[in-house]
Amino acid sequence: MNWVIVGQGALGSLLAVKLQQQQQTVAVLTRANAPAEPRWLDQQCYQFSAITPAELLCSQQPSTVVAAVKAYQLDALLKQLAELPTQHQLLLSYNGMLDNEAQRLPPNCLHWVTTHGAYRDAQQLVHAGAGESWLGWQQPQLKPVPAELITTLSAALPPCHWQPEIQRQRWQKLAINCLINPFTVIHNCLNGELLGLGLEAEMLQLAGEISALAGRLDGIDLLPEQLVTAAMDVATRTAANRSSMLSDVRAGRRTEIDFLNGFVARQSAQLGLTASANQLLWQQLS
Ligand code: PAF
Repeated sequence: MNWVIVGQGALGSLLAVKLQQQQQTVAVLTRANAPAEPRWLDQQCYQFSAITPAELLCSQQPSTVVAAVKAYQLDALLKQLAELPTQHQLLLSYNGMLDNEAQRLPPNCLHWVTTHGAYRDAQQLVHAGAGESWLGWQQPQLKPVPAELITTLSAALPPCHWQPEIQRQRWQKLAINCLINPFTVIHNCLNGELLGLGLEAEMLQLAGEISALAGRLDGIDLLPEQLVTAAMDVATRTAANRSSMLSDVRAGRRTEIDFLNGFVARQSAQLGLTASANQLLWQQLS
């Protein structure tokens, strides 16, 4: 299969390397005349060909375009790829949720939700936590299961599950990020170090607010206790990982807080729900 990876982040880079290790044809989306930066994993250097947005838009070769980007980069990217011909498949992966998402996302895109933990240490990529991934259509009424895509993603970064109810998985991932990422910044620590900090009560309050919002916005039932257990489980499995938010803060980049706890606080306020714990973290980290 042909793949085009959009985004210079740790996760997209890790996927690019892992796909290339599976003998897939992988290109990286770059600006005109810019080379694709090599990626390093386990002291090995991986080179990729570069493709510009203009080249991608007129390419006849069917590709899976994976946008592993920050939520705040999505609007600009989707504008750039608005004319993406139908032979290409767009797969989105980002932390958090956007306000009015249904109106902003192309209906025929797929979501790739993942709990793999990765960060960059200078030039080196570090796959610091084996997680799992789920794939599903943005519009659940789209029925065909892209079997080859799932098999290939599963071989590259296992396991990858087909999830017809991807929105449920996205809420769970949102909760995991809302419960882990801000605390790694506040305590300046790796994911695993959160486990001994006695954060369960605070996490339960955050999870309760997220669960109430998921119910009202999407009719999805999530048990707050299970969300806390899921977050603790991810923190355990990615114990050695530096969260994406901590990496952003250390690199002086904008964080995704507006699309995580900020999203929960804003949407809850609009619906008259209380989300004081998420509001507090949003304020603290903005
Ligand atoms: O944002 C992150 O860092 C990741 O989504 C996760 C799963 C919390 C692992 O660090």
